Amino acid sequence: MSVHIKAQKGEIARTVLQPGDPLRAKYIADNFLEDAKLVSQTRNIFYYTGLYKGKEISVGASGMGIPSIGIYSFELYTEYEVDTIIRIGTCGGYSTDLKVYDLLNVKQAASESTYAKFSWGIEDEIIPHQGNCFDLINETAKNLNLPLKTTNIHTSDIFYRKVPGTPAMAAKYNCSAVEMEAFALFANAKYLGKNAATILTVSDIIPTGDEISADEREKALTPMINLALETALRM
Ligand code: HPA
Repeated sequence: MSVHIKAQKGEIARTVLQPGDPLRAKYIADNFLEDAKLVSQTRNIFYYTGLYKGKEISVGASGMGIPSIGIYSFELYTEYEVDTIIRIGTCGGYSTDLKVYDLLNVKQAASESTYAKFSWGIEDEIIPHQGNCFDLINETAKNLNLPLKTTNIHTSDIFYRKVPGTPAMAAKYNCSAVEMEAFALFANAKYLGKNAATILTVSDIIPTGDEISADEREKALTPMINLALETALRM
């Protein structure tokens, strides 16, 4: 047990897929894993461990935002001997070069957040993915014939804001899209010497308001889930 995860030691696999939404974790466990067992439901943040093509994999939620993923990823890495966390989430595109349903593999996450500085003394505004998982995701996508773009993204604390457009931090680091978690995941993995990657499905295009409808969302995420699971097989 850790402070926020009730699973016993040994009940979480070395590779964890981490969506933001607990119900998405349940959906993946129900539809993609065999013999999935619910190992934690503290705060309704569900963690499941099961088999994918015979390999033990866990899937569990991060919640929304830097503080939440900061807590869950740290406890997974330090209390459960997790080696690799693959965040699977959605993002908003800043540019009309992106289209809804596009699949992104995150090279680096830039943020205004002070999380990395005040937790681990990491002063950088931009933190890369950690370890070899990013490269394995690219290779796996190629093998699956799945179109995948690599890009920097903006990890923001802000979903609603007064001034529209691309924030300065995103422009400075050429970030094509925005989400709210990758920076903290990469900071924790960097400090702890672990593997971390983030795959995102573009769910909305901010300048045009184009978006994947709530009905379409579940099916829309299938390519990303398959890519993460097939990559996990190779970790
Ligand atoms: N902002 C932040 N996170 C997001 C967005 C957004 O517009 N869309 C999906 N995740």
